[in-house]
Amino acid sequence: MVEGEKQIISELATAFVAPMTVNREKFQFQRFSRLNRVLHILMIVSFISLALTGLTIKFSYTGWAVILSHLLGGFESAGYIHRFFAVVMVSVFITHIVDITRMKKKEYKTWRALIFSPGSMMFNKKDVSDIIGTLKWFVGKGERPQYGRWTYWEKFDYFAVFWGILVIGSTGVTLWFPELLTNIIPGWVINVATIIHSDEALLATGFIFTVHFFNTHLRPEKFPMDIVIFSGRTPLEEYKIDRPAEYEELVEKGELEKYLVEPYPQIVVRSIKVFGWAALLTGFGIVVWIIYAMIFAYR
Ligand code: HEM
Repeated sequence: MVEGEKQIISELATAFVAPMTVNREKFQFQRFSRLNRVLHILMIVSFISLALTGLTIKFSYTGWAVILSHLLGGFESAGYIHRFFAVVMVSVFITHIVDITRMKKKEYKTWRALIFSPGSMMFNKKDVSDIIGTLKWFVGKGERPQYGRWTYWEKFDYFAVFWGILVIGSTGVTLWFPELLTNIIPGWVINVATIIHSDEALLATGFIFTVHFFNTHLRPEKFPMDIVIFSGRTPLEEYKIDRPAEYEELVEKGELEKYLVEPYPQIVVRSIKVFGWAALLTGFGIVVWIIYAMIFAYR
């Protein structure tokens, strides 16, 4: 056991004896595991790299793409970098599936039990009432809904990436090996795959760099940036307000303490913010580039 963990446990032990003496502000709530954080960082790096290299190829007739292609070592090299990050992204996806399979074996016996468990990413009845409650809250006709472990917009974003990777990955592999695949499929499929891959790329970048960015960082409660996906932890007070249903459930079950951790040192938080800002600004830049290319230069 590391020194920090020992200290937390001894402070929590004190809390049971004299609850008023423990400084609960010192602890944060652990929301994401290390594996999920690493996978999300790799997903960000691979997605931004795929978008930059892919769009450079797609809009190769624009001045911006020519500048970018020089930085990337030419259009051909942009294609190689694109393939490299495609492998990274598909590996992230496979690792996530392996992780869920492991979780199923360890904590749930069947896929059905995992998919329909209360903490699952699958939509359930509460999401419907949360959507209605949120709309009422927006127009001042009700309180903010008591969100739980996952909100309906997080589930929506999750499934958008899930099916997006299947579509963009399968069409991408078709573009990667056209000679090999046309031994078994007709040639026109390559043209269709190019259109689907290219348009899905616009949809994915447009969605991630506007809707996903707004949902996670730009909504008033989190503005200008929520670093929880990088640090894995969130201040206890903020968590209580943000996810009241999950908080109350953990308190009732007496399990909250299991998720309390110490905050990261300032230097780590600052480094995380630098990475976060770089990703946010690159994403917004790509959206501006797409809008410019579609309005003024689209062929
Ligand atoms: C994850 C698996 C992926 C694979 C296997 C893949 C593979 C490919 C390949 C082989 C090409 C042709 C490149 C060339 O001509 O040298 C391509 C083009 C392209 N890719 Fe991907 N890619 C993937 C993901 C993505 C993602 C996530 C995006 C955007 C966010 C993207 C955007 C594009 C674009 C815009 C093009 C140009 C299409 C055109 O010519 O109109 N790709 N991709």
